[in-house]
Amino acid sequence: MPSPKKRVPKAPAAVTPDILELPLLPLKDVVVFPNQILPLFVGRPRSIAAVEEASRSRHPLVLATQRNPQLEDPSPDGVYDIGVTAEIVQVLRLPDGLRLIVEGKHRARLEGVRDASDTLRARATVLVEDEREAGTQEEEAAVRSLLDLFEEYVRLHPKLPMETTQALVGVEGLGRLADIIAAHLTLRPAAKQALLEKIDPRERVEAVAKAISAENQVLALEKQINSRVRKRMEKHQREAWLQEQLRAIQQELGSRSDDISEAAELKAKLTAKKMPKEVKEKAFKELGRLERMTPLSAEATVVRTYLDWILALPWGKTSKDTLDLAKAEQILEADHEGLVKPKNRVLDYLAVHQLKGDLKGPILCLVGPPGVGKTSLARSIARSLGRKFERVSLGGVRDEAEIRGHRRTYIGAMPGRLVQALKRAGTSNPVILLDEVDKMAADFRGDPSSALLEVLDPEQNAAFTDHYLDVPIDLSQVLFLCTGNDLYAIPGPLRDRLEVIELAGYLEEEKVGIARRFLVPRQIKEHGLKAVQLPLNDAVLGRLVRDYTREAGVRELERQIAALCRKAAREIVAKGPSTVFKVDETTLFAQLGVPRYARDEASRRSMVGIATGLAWTPSGGETLAIEVSLAPGKGGLQITGQLGDVMKESVQAALSYLKAHAQELGLKPDFQAKTDIHVHVPEGGTPKDGPSAGITICTALASAFTRRPVRHDVAMTGEITLRGRVLPIGGLKEKSLAARREGITTLIVPRGNRKDLSEVPEEARRALHWQLVSSMDQVLKLALAPKKATDKQRRAAEREVPAMEEWHEHMTKQ
Ligand SMILES: Nc1ncnc2c1ncn2[C@@H]1O[C@H](COP(=O)(O)OP(=O)(O)OP(=O)(O)O)[C@@H](O)[C@H]1O
Ligand SMILES: [Mg+2]
Repeated sequence: MPSPKKRVPKAPAAVTPDILELPLLPLKDVVVFPNQILPLFVGRPRSIAAVEEASRSRHPLVLATQRNPQLEDPSPDGVYDIGVTAEIVQVLRLPDGLRLIVEGKHRARLEGVRDASDTLRARATVLVEDEREAGTQEEEAAVRSLLDLFEEYVRLHPKLPMETTQALVGVEGLGRLADIIAAHLTLRPAAKQALLEKIDPRERVEAVAKAISAENQVLALEKQINSRVRKRMEKHQREAWLQEQLRAIQQELGSRSDDISEAAELKAKLTAKKMPKEVKEKAFKELGRLERMTPLSAEATVVRTYLDWILALPWGKTSKDTLDLAKAEQILEADHEGLVKPKNRVLDYLAVHQLKGDLKGPILCLVGPPGVGKTSLARSIARSLGRKFERVSLGGVRDEAEIRGHRRTYIGAMPGRLVQALKRAGTSNPVILLDEVDKMAADFRGDPSSALLEVLDPEQNAAFTDHYLDVPIDLSQVLFLCTGNDLYAIPGPLRDRLEVIELAGYLEEEKVGIARRFLVPRQIKEHGLKAVQLPLNDAVLGRLVRDYTREAGVRELERQIAALCRKAAREIVAKGPSTVFKVDETTLFAQLGVPRYARDEASRRSMVGIATGLAWTPSGGETLAIEVSLAPGKGGLQITGQLGDVMKESVQAALSYLKAHAQELGLKPDFQAKTDIHVHVPEGGTPKDGPSAGITICTALASAFTRRPVRHDVAMTGEITLRGRVLPIGGLKEKSLAARREGITTLIVPRGNRKDLSEVPEEARRALHWQLVSSMDQVLKLALAPKKATDKQRRAAEREVPAMEEWHEHMTKQ
């Protein structure tokens, strides 16, 4: 058992009176100060020998720190010149060395170190310090500030207990205080050594104070950093913990475990998807919200749907334009028969855009009656550009939200139709057809056409906002086309942005051509037939057009062809594939039944009180029979057939004209007094209006009163004034096509419409006999046949038509 050595009086081996030679214990990285007691472990043989010698001789040791702590066996000059003398308080022998407790005594200046055989020996001057108290005020201040600094140091130091400061109570002497404090500092050995080397106590106090205050700053900083790091760590931990809790709760609530992976999947998709920065930011914000929501909640579904929409949109992905005018022409030609003018307009439009390199400019709008190929022409335009084609049907749209989408706060909110079309197209530069723009309507839910204004404005549509997506969408690459039946039903400001191309309707010959080239082959294919099984010649097709359809376009015609195909299919299934289903003009009746619109030549007689007018409707031109019947009465007037105000007024104007011209017509001045008049315009179910039936009404009235029949092959259109002038009307082209369809040969039209004749298709212009009139009496001359005219007389009258004046004379004399 090792026991503490008893302290013995010093008996140093004196070299000279002041210099002692003592065993040297080199220290690796410890600096020992006077009055410091500390444990040391000694393992090196020479060090052990030094300790053994000191404890044997009961002399003090010299402790000096190695300049290089790495060295196992330092040379005589490998230690600092200033060390301390020390006494061994306790030695404990361990298998691999000694464990000592030493107490530093005095500073020692090493005058020389000698390498004795088993130890190092130092010749040292012992620097005994007189323990004087702080004398001057200055010294007192230095002491106090040193104590304050040290207190601060202990407070900041993570490992020093607060009691450490207690050790200083009652310490006497300036230098001693500085030594004790220095011993407590955790400084690098070199820094400590520097303090040890301060022999002068006042200098030492100063140096120690400097060292502490530097240390204090570092410690304060360290503490700050630590607390910040801890706070951050705590926040992270808190969040992780809460997330974990949330997940547990969600699992408790029965949600699927793949919700988390779903969010991760969405995240991956969003990261990979190319989209504008703004959109991406918004999407990630929503994703963040989604992650915090209960997966099965309604709200989460809303956000998920939103993100799906964002992911589904093309965001700048475009298809390559293949605009080549020659090719475009070929495609338009291949898809459509006729339509020469519209096709040329389209090609002009495309040519401009090819030159300009972009598609900004007026929007093309195809206007015409149903079934004339507007939608299908638009599709061809997309094909010739090599772009995706999407149709947005606007018929019946009343709600602005249909265009712009609903805000997400509404249940079942959806993006508007444009965004939906973009999604379907999958590119940002499709051709979008706004079909039936004329059939939108405004009501309390807003005006869809005003939303379209923004869409169609090339200056604004680069940042179109859909309420649902709530991010700007670039529509500037889209080529918009519109279609409509009635140009004037398109809201004004919208119409203003459109470049209108009119498709008027087809003549019989054109329809036959379309049927031969397109409709018949298409229907034959759709019904699984072969062309040889159902041969249809032009005569049959002509019959179909004439007797079974009455339309400007070709839809009904296609339906009739389809009906024939069905009959053929049935027969071929019954009789075998080699059957040829023969149809000719005469068997058509057996296949399709009674011709719906056959012109019954017999019923088309010239009759009293019935005149044929012409009307323009959004579905093309139409003939309009106006009937007048007279009965004994008191001069009453009845008008039926759902006539509008303008048309009713036309009746009044016509009557007034007749009264004013009674004499010329061979009527008594009071011809109307004892008669009740009934004017009717079939079909009574369809509302009609407009001034253009004026001359027809007047003719029918004149016929009824004069008992002169109206020529059955004449149709007329024109507005009438009280003085009997005939004013121009609109829609001449459509009206003339309708007249042709109905087998009319002579057309009476206002002279003022002469300029519009050039619009009428060549064929119709030549086939019809045109009578341009400027006054009502001219109309009556042309339209009324002589009383009870025989066919012979009538033909004679007809021949005389050009010589109107004489004919008129002749008639009125009767
Ligand atoms: N000139 C033509 N050549 C070939 N086919 C045609 C022609 N005109 C019309 N068609 C065919 O007639 C059918 C009807 O045309 P489409 O649907 O384009 O009519 P629309 O003008 O858009 O009518 P709506 O106003 O009713 O929408 C289509 O199948 C189309 O292919
Ligand atoms: Mg259409």
